[in-house]
Amino acid sequence: MVSIKSDREIELMRDAGKILAEVHNEISNFIKPGISTYDIDRFAEKAVKKLGGNCSFYHLYDFPGNFCISVNDEVIHGIPSRDKILKDGDIVKVDGGVEYKGYQSDAARTHIVGKVSDDIKNLVERTREAFFKALEVVVSGNHVNDIGKTIEEYIEPYGYGIVEDYVGHGIGTKVHESPEIPNYACTSRGILLKKNMTLAIEPMINLGSYEVYTDTDEWTVRTIDGLPSAHYENTVVITDNGPEILSLV
Ligand code: MF3
Ligand code: CO
Repeated sequence: MVSIKSDREIELMRDAGKILAEVHNEISNFIKPGISTYDIDRFAEKAVKKLGGNCSFYHLYDFPGNFCISVNDEVIHGIPSRDKILKDGDIVKVDGGVEYKGYQSDAARTHIVGKVSDDIKNLVERTREAFFKALEVVVSGNHVNDIGKTIEEYIEPYGYGIVEDYVGHGIGTKVHESPEIPNYACTSRGILLKKNMTLAIEPMINLGSYEVYTDTDEWTVRTIDGLPSAHYENTVVITDNGPEILSLV
């Protein structure tokens, strides 16, 4: 069952989204070669708490960190670690969830560390662009799988791999609610999109093969070919005037 939020609930999700957006902006200024993914996690935790929120992944899923922080071939769910030091040429995906007064927001950014190759820079930019292309169809009257179709049509010509094992999702009082939102084209159109539905849309795009596996730490998802992967995610609400991004300022 896909829930339709009340205007009051949307207001609380807007607050949760604003906190996360602000924290992501602060993190982007903090990222530099020489820091560890643990440093980023501690920085994120402090920033979320300072703004009155809680880190959802730690509380909800017992994830061994506050934010998921994944470097290069790590796609998602990377565990923050003192041993993972960022170096020039890396990309780092920072994926956070913030809970505020019982409501959730979920958003991810991919940061470039120092100078990266053009191939990787393009991957990062096009993954972000795929989100914004998809956003154009997040309109009441369309169907949920129009999102994945739009992402696939945009990404396919570049020859990248679209991750299939993990998908976007509804969001509200829980981080993960119905519906699932694949980032690829499906044969069915899926549920009808309606006003006041709240969705986390999150293309995960690999430079090479779409295939991924889970590392022995039982969390970190990596590309099978070791090539880098990019991720971009925002929490969005469908309004009478089209989509509104809640986790971006
Ligand atoms: N950030 C993930 C998502 O976008 C959820 C992470 S769940 C966790 O859906 F347990 F790994 F934290
Ligand atoms: Co998500």
